[in-house]
Amino acid sequence: MNEALARAAALLREARHATAFTGAGVSVESGIPPFRGPGGLWSRVDPAFIEIGYFLEHPAESWRRIKGIFYDHFGQAQPNAAHFGLAALEAAGRLRSVITQNIDDLHQQAGSREVIEFHGSSRWLLCLECGRREAVHAGSLAALPPRCGCGGLLKPDFIFFGEGIPEKSLQRSYQEAAQADLFLVIGSSGEVQPACQIPVLARNRGAKLIEINPHPSHFTPIADVFLQGPATKAVSELIKELGLRN
Ligand code: APR
Repeated sequence: MNEALARAAALLREARHATAFTGAGVSVESGIPPFRGPGGLWSRVDPAFIEIGYFLEHPAESWRRIKGIFYDHFGQAQPNAAHFGLAALEAAGRLRSVITQNIDDLHQQAGSREVIEFHGSSRWLLCLECGRREAVHAGSLAALPPRCGCGGLLKPDFIFFGEGIPEKSLQRSYQEAAQADLFLVIGSSGEVQPACQIPVLARNRGAKLIEINPHPSHFTPIADVFLQGPATKAVSELIKELGLRN
């Protein structure tokens, strides 16, 4: 059993309040590519279509791209062993919450209950006229751009470039950064503000930081333990080391 894994398991056992912070990398083994790094979505697709100004000016074209990428393709993804492992840690009382930058709902589908969606969720549509939120269903995107019953334009309930972080998610994340004595950072490049500040705030207060990533990231220099490898492998090994079932 390697030294880093033993150290990470010990930190999880000793933690009073552990929080997970996940990025696109935790969903890569569910078939959703990361945004950056090898095979990153933004290296193949210009993200302009998901900038809020473009969306408001060209809703039909923006929605055509959004539907193709975030619903037709990614929408079929299923949780992987890393998502299930985090849910098992929470169920065993070893993890208090998951702060995720992802909009894919896979943590909730795996059974995690305390999930803070820092960038919102693709599972809801928001009316820009009346503010009504509705769950995405099979017929939601039959006509583009989708319209609310009030006639208003519907937008996916995740943040676009140029939008602010949902206030409630921001506050709850700051609370976790203030209370946690351990952050488990999985699959994030640490490039996107203000999300990537959350683990740093906790670390600066004295929380320990475990990172899981096949490649070094902006978090690696401040990690107490760096488990280099894919999320499913490292999380499954941690679960096993803690005597839990994934
Ligand atoms: N397991 C764990 N990590 C992985 C795996 C894997 N199997 N495969 C890749 N990774 C890592 C990459 O090495 C990279 O560090 O996942 C990270 C993905 O980085 P990004 O694509 O930048 O994802 P993230 O940090 O979540 O980006 C933040 O950028 O475009 C915005 O809103 C979008 O939420 C996203 C935000």
